[in-house]
Amino acid sequence: MSIIIEPLGLQHNRAGFSCGAKLVDQFCKTAHPEHFASKRRIYVCCADDKTTVIGFYSLSLTFLRKSRNQKINEPSIHLEMIGVAEASQGQGLGSALLAHAFQSVSTVADLVGVMWIFLEAINEKSETFYTDIGFKWFNQDRKEMIIPIDAIKMLVEAGDAPAP
Ligand SMILES: CC(C)(COP(=O)(O)OP(=O)(O)OC[C@H]1O[C@@H](n2cnc3c(N)ncnc32)[C@H](O)[C@@H]1OP(=O)(O)O)[C@@H](O)C(=O)NCCC(=O)NCCS
Repeated sequence: MSIIIEPLGLQHNRAGFSCGAKLVDQFCKTAHPEHFASKRRIYVCCADDKTTVIGFYSLSLTFLRKSRNQKINEPSIHLEMIGVAEASQGQGLGSALLAHAFQSVSTVADLVGVMWIFLEAINEKSETFYTDIGFKWFNQDRKEMIIPIDAIKMLVEAGDAPAP
Protein backbone atom coordinates (compact mmCIF):
# COMPACT_ATOMS: atom_id res chain seq x y z
CA MET A 1 0.00 0.00 0.00
CA SER A 2 1.45 3.39 -0.93
CA ILE A 3 0.56 5.97 1.70
CA ILE A 4 0.80 9.70 1.09
CA ILE A 5 1.03 11.79 4.26
CA GLU A 6 0.83 15.56 3.78
CA PRO A 7 0.12 18.71 5.78
CA LEU A 8 -3.58 19.46 6.27
CA GLY A 9 -4.89 21.78 3.54
CA LEU A 10 -8.16 23.51 2.78
CA GLN A 11 -9.04 20.77 0.28
CA HIS A 12 -9.11 18.06 2.95
CA ASN A 13 -12.53 16.92 4.12
CA ARG A 14 -12.69 15.79 7.76
CA ALA A 15 -16.46 16.11 8.29
CA GLY A 16 -17.16 12.37 8.32
CA PHE A 17 -14.01 11.26 10.13
CA SER A 18 -14.75 8.58 12.70
CA CYS A 19 -12.08 6.42 14.39
CA GLY A 20 -14.13 5.12 17.31
CA ALA A 21 -12.73 7.55 19.88
CA LYS A 22 -14.90 10.67 20.28
CA LEU A 23 -12.10 12.82 21.61
CA VAL A 24 -9.94 12.04 18.57
CA ASP A 25 -12.82 12.55 16.10
CA GLN A 26 -13.65 15.89 17.68
CA PHE A 27 -10.03 16.98 17.50
CA CYS A 28 -9.82 16.02 13.83
CA LYS A 29 -12.83 18.17 13.02
CA THR A 30 -12.02 21.22 15.14
CA ALA A 31 -8.24 21.55 15.60
CA HIS A 32 -7.54 23.13 12.20
CA PRO A 33 -7.56 26.85 13.15
CA GLU A 34 -4.37 26.38 15.18
CA HIS A 35 -2.82 24.45 12.29
CA PHE A 36 -3.50 27.29 9.87
CA ALA A 37 -2.23 29.76 12.50
CA SER A 38 1.00 27.75 12.85
CA LYS A 39 0.35 26.84 16.50
CA ARG A 40 0.28 23.13 15.71
CA ARG A 41 0.85 20.99 12.63
CA ILE A 42 -1.69 18.42 11.45
CA TYR A 43 -0.70 15.80 8.87
CA VAL A 44 -3.27 13.74 7.03
CA CYS A 45 -3.61 10.84 4.65
CA CYS A 46 -6.59 10.50 2.37
CA ALA A 47 -8.78 7.98 0.60
CA ASP A 48 -8.36 7.42 -3.15
CA ASP A 49 -10.37 10.60 -3.85
CA LYS A 50 -7.36 12.50 -2.37
CA THR A 51 -9.59 14.71 -0.22
CA THR A 52 -11.42 12.51 2.32
CA VAL A 53 -9.22 12.25 5.40
CA ILE A 54 -8.80 8.66 6.65
CA GLY A 55 -5.92 9.25 9.05
CA PHE A 56 -4.15 12.09 10.77
CA TYR A 57 -1.74 13.09 13.49
CA SER A 58 -0.93 16.39 15.14
CA LEU A 59 2.27 17.85 16.57
CA SER A 60 2.91 20.96 18.61
CA LEU A 61 5.75 22.48 20.59
CA THR A 62 5.85 22.06 24.35
CA PHE A 63 8.32 22.50 27.19
CA LEU A 64 8.67 19.90 29.92
CA ARG A 65 9.67 20.53 33.51
CA LYS A 66 10.54 17.22 35.09
CA SER A 67 10.88 18.50 38.66
CA ARG A 68 9.94 21.64 40.59
CA ASN A 69 13.60 22.53 41.04
CA GLN A 70 14.34 22.47 37.36
CA LYS A 71 14.96 26.01 36.16
CA ILE A 72 15.03 25.53 32.42
CA ASN A 73 12.18 23.66 30.75
CA GLU A 74 13.13 21.04 28.20
CA PRO A 75 12.14 21.66 24.55
CA SER A 76 9.85 18.85 23.45
CA ILE A 77 7.29 17.90 20.82
CA HIS A 78 3.75 17.05 21.87
CA LEU A 79 2.25 14.26 19.79
CA GLU A 80 -1.21 15.60 20.44
CA MET A 81 -3.41 13.09 18.68
CA ILE A 82 -3.34 10.30 16.13
CA GLY A 83 -6.30 8.56 14.54
CA VAL A 84 -7.29 6.30 11.67
CA ALA A 85 -10.85 5.99 10.33
CA GLU A 86 -12.47 2.78 11.51
CA ALA A 87 -12.85 1.36 8.00
CA SER A 88 -9.11 1.81 7.37
CA GLN A 89 -7.78 0.48 10.67
CA GLY A 90 -5.55 -2.61 10.87
CA GLN A 91 -3.84 -1.95 7.54
CA GLY A 92 -0.70 -0.25 8.78
CA LEU A 93 -1.88 3.33 8.49
CA GLY A 94 -1.52 4.14 12.20
CA SER A 95 2.02 2.80 12.20
CA ALA A 96 2.86 4.73 9.02
CA LEU A 97 1.56 7.96 10.56
CA LEU A 98 3.61 7.37 13.69
CA ALA A 99 6.74 6.60 11.65
CA HIS A 100 6.16 9.86 9.74
CA ALA A 101 5.77 11.75 13.03
CA PHE A 102 9.02 10.31 14.37
CA GLN A 103 10.82 11.26 11.16
CA SER A 104 9.43 14.82 11.39
CA VAL A 105 10.49 15.16 15.02
CA SER A 106 13.95 13.83 14.22
CA THR A 107 14.33 16.49 11.52
CA VAL A 108 13.10 19.26 13.83
CA ALA A 109 15.53 18.08 16.52
CA ASP A 110 18.42 18.43 14.06
CA LEU A 111 17.32 21.96 13.17
CA VAL A 112 16.43 23.52 16.50
CA GLY A 113 16.94 20.96 19.29
CA VAL A 114 14.27 18.74 20.83
CA MET A 115 14.76 16.51 23.86
CA TRP A 116 11.54 14.49 24.12
CA ILE A 117 8.33 13.44 22.47
CA PHE A 118 5.47 13.82 24.93
CA LEU A 119 1.97 12.33 24.62
CA GLU A 120 -1.11 11.39 26.61
CA ALA A 121 -2.18 7.77 26.18
CA ILE A 122 -5.95 7.76 25.78
CA ASN A 123 -6.56 4.12 26.64
CA GLU A 124 -4.85 0.95 27.92
CA LYS A 125 -4.20 -0.39 24.44
CA SER A 126 -2.29 2.72 23.44
CA GLU A 127 -0.37 2.64 26.76
CA THR A 128 0.89 -0.85 25.88
CA PHE A 129 1.61 0.13 22.30
CA TYR A 130 3.69 3.15 23.32
CA THR A 131 5.46 1.27 26.13
CA ASP A 132 6.49 -1.42 23.63
CA ILE A 133 8.01 1.26 21.39
CA GLY A 134 10.03 2.65 24.32
CA PHE A 135 7.87 5.39 25.88
CA LYS A 136 8.13 5.77 29.67
CA TRP A 137 5.78 7.39 32.14
CA PHE A 138 6.17 11.13 32.61
CA ASN A 139 3.14 11.27 34.91
CA GLN A 140 1.27 7.99 35.25
CA ASP A 141 -1.77 9.54 36.98
CA ARG A 142 -2.30 11.83 34.01
CA LYS A 143 -1.33 9.05 31.56
CA GLU A 144 1.47 11.23 30.19
CA MET A 145 4.38 9.49 28.48
CA ILE A 146 7.73 10.53 27.03
CA ILE A 147 10.51 9.10 24.91
CA PRO A 148 13.96 10.71 24.50
CA ILE A 149 15.08 12.01 21.12
CA ASP A 150 18.01 9.55 21.04
CA ALA A 151 15.57 6.64 21.11
CA ILE A 152 13.47 8.25 18.37
CA LYS A 153 16.55 8.75 16.22
CA MET A 154 17.62 5.15 16.71
CA LEU A 155 14.17 3.95 15.65
CA VAL A 156 14.19 6.21 12.59
CA GLU A 157 17.74 5.29 11.57
CA ALA A 158 17.18 1.57 12.07
CA GLY A 159 13.89 1.79 10.18
CA ASP A 160 12.35 0.31 13.32
CA ALA A 161 9.86 3.09 13.79
CA PRO A 162 6.50 1.33 13.52
CA ALA A 163 6.06 0.94 9.78
CA PRO A 164 3.24 -0.15 7.49
C1 LIG B 1 -4.65 3.50 17.31
C2 LIG B 1 -4.87 3.65 15.80
C3 LIG B 1 -4.36 5.02 15.35
C4 LIG B 1 -4.08 2.56 15.07
O1 LIG B 1 -4.29 2.70 13.69
P1 LIG B 1 -4.22 1.44 12.69
O2 LIG B 1 -4.17 1.95 11.31
O3 LIG B 1 -5.26 0.47 13.05
O4 LIG B 1 -2.78 0.88 13.09
P2 LIG B 1 -1.93 -0.26 12.39
O5 LIG B 1 -2.73 -1.02 11.37
O6 LIG B 1 -0.65 0.32 11.95
O7 LIG B 1 -1.79 -1.13 13.70
C5 LIG B 1 -0.92 -2.11 14.06
C6 LIG B 1 -1.12 -2.32 15.54
O8 LIG B 1 -0.52 -1.27 16.30
C7 LIG B 1 -1.49 -0.52 17.03
N1 LIG B 1 -1.20 0.91 16.84
C8 LIG B 1 -0.64 1.49 15.76
N2 LIG B 1 -0.47 2.82 15.95
C9 LIG B 1 -0.93 3.07 17.20
C10 LIG B 1 -1.02 4.24 18.00
N3 LIG B 1 -0.57 5.42 17.58
N4 LIG B 1 -1.56 4.13 19.23
C11 LIG B 1 -1.99 2.95 19.68
N5 LIG B 1 -1.92 1.79 18.99
C12 LIG B 1 -1.39 1.86 17.76
C13 LIG B 1 -2.80 -0.89 16.44
O9 LIG B 1 -3.83 -0.76 17.40
C14 LIG B 1 -2.56 -2.35 16.02
O10 LIG B 1 -2.63 -3.21 17.10
P3 LIG B 1 -3.38 -4.62 16.97
O11 LIG B 1 -2.81 -5.26 15.73
O12 LIG B 1 -3.03 -5.30 18.25
O13 LIG B 1 -4.82 -4.25 16.84
C15 LIG B 1 -6.37 3.47 15.43
O14 LIG B 1 -6.80 2.21 15.87
C16 LIG B 1 -7.29 4.54 16.02
O15 LIG B 1 -7.49 5.58 15.42
N6 LIG B 1 -7.85 4.29 17.23
C17 LIG B 1 -8.74 5.21 17.88
C18 LIG B 1 -8.01 6.48 18.34
C19 LIG B 1 -6.82 6.19 19.24
O16 LIG B 1 -6.86 5.31 20.11
N7 LIG B 1 -5.72 6.98 19.02
C20 LIG B 1 -4.47 6.79 19.73
C21 LIG B 1 -4.30 7.76 20.86
S1 LIG B 1 -4.52 9.49 20.41
